[in-house]
Amino acid sequence: EKGGHEYFMLKEIEEQPEALTNTLRGHFESGRIILDEQRISDQDLRDVDKVFVVACGSAYHSGLVAKYAIEHWCRLPVEVELASEFRYRDPVLDRDTLVVAVSQSGETADTLEAVRHAREQKARVLAVCNTNGAQIPRESDAVLYTHAGPEIGVASTKAFLAQIAANYLVGLALAQARGTKYPDEVAREFAELEAMPAAVQKVLSTVDQVRDLGRKIAESKAVLFLGRHVGFPVALEGALKLKELAYMHAEGFAAGELKHGPIALIEDGLPVVVVMPSPKGRAVLHAKLVSNISEIQARGARTIVIAEEGDETVRPFADELVEIPAVPTLLQPLVSTVPLQVLAAEIARTRGYDVDKPRNLAKSVTVE
Ligand code: M6R
Repeated sequence: EKGGHEYFMLKEIEEQPEALTNTLRGHFESGRIILDEQRISDQDLRDVDKVFVVACGSAYHSGLVAKYAIEHWCRLPVEVELASEFRYRDPVLDRDTLVVAVSQSGETADTLEAVRHAREQKARVLAVCNTNGAQIPRESDAVLYTHAGPEIGVASTKAFLAQIAANYLVGLALAQARGTKYPDEVAREFAELEAMPAAVQKVLSTVDQVRDLGRKIAESKAVLFLGRHVGFPVALEGALKLKELAYMHAEGFAAGELKHGPIALIEDGLPVVVVMPSPKGRAVLHAKLVSNISEIQARGARTIVIAEEGDETVRPFADELVEIPAVPTLLQPLVSTVPLQVLAAEIARTRGYDVDKPRNLAKSVTVE
């Protein structure tokens, strides 16, 4: 049942192209993005003036990724909030607020309570969920199902990538309703999403390289992750995977923050994973990150760089280089996350831990 793999997580990592294909299927018909269930009128969708994404763990990271796309496409302010904090700080909600609740299981208590709070305040709630008929979609005004298939590994992989794709569909549906994107632009964005399963398939060719790398750094005390723009939530996700699977101290930082404190952590041999933006798509950020890497390398860090293929400028500063295919900037998390998943799983396996059932964790957290 593990499809010849030592652990489910690796199988699920390899199922990611299919999870994306299945999640996108049927959501662009007759030139329009469509949701699975929509009990919000088109007019109400047009009237939305603020979006909150509420979620936990990896689902929260998928929301952080989506913020960049939704703000850019819809010209709407988007706040991404940990579901466990949301209702305790009296968020400003009304009929024109759209709350997007992202949950693989659809049963996470923190997210469910955030949904209930939002509805009491008359906000509209849209659920992005991987489980048909779960409680969160049942209590929501609209639903978009991810079709990642059942996820056995406690660490989210294919559901996470599917959540990013589904959140992007939510963004396109909003842009379409609000008219901030012309129909041909929506069609083009959807076509770019449809090309992503092939790009993820390509990045899977790095699995052996990354597993080797994982074995080499498995005895480290800590690992830091750096990124900028959409690479920042990817860094957070890479750190979460490593914490939950390998029980290692791991932290993700926005690379621009390095000089405001975290650079003090750099010491000889410390592995630092850097998620590089595209040298063409985000040239200014790329240059800044190259300079960050040279600084940390000069202070002894072991740099592990995830960069677009053909990115030569970064090569001199990369102790290890993992190449990912060139894709549109907003979609890069769908490929750059994959090596980080493999890295965490392999470090955990090398340290002798159960990759599919990390200690102290449950697949679905139904207590607040
Ligand atoms: O089922 P949910 O998406 O609501 O779960 C949210 C988190 O508990 C979940 O993403 C958790 O952080 C994973 N173990 C991360 O790998």
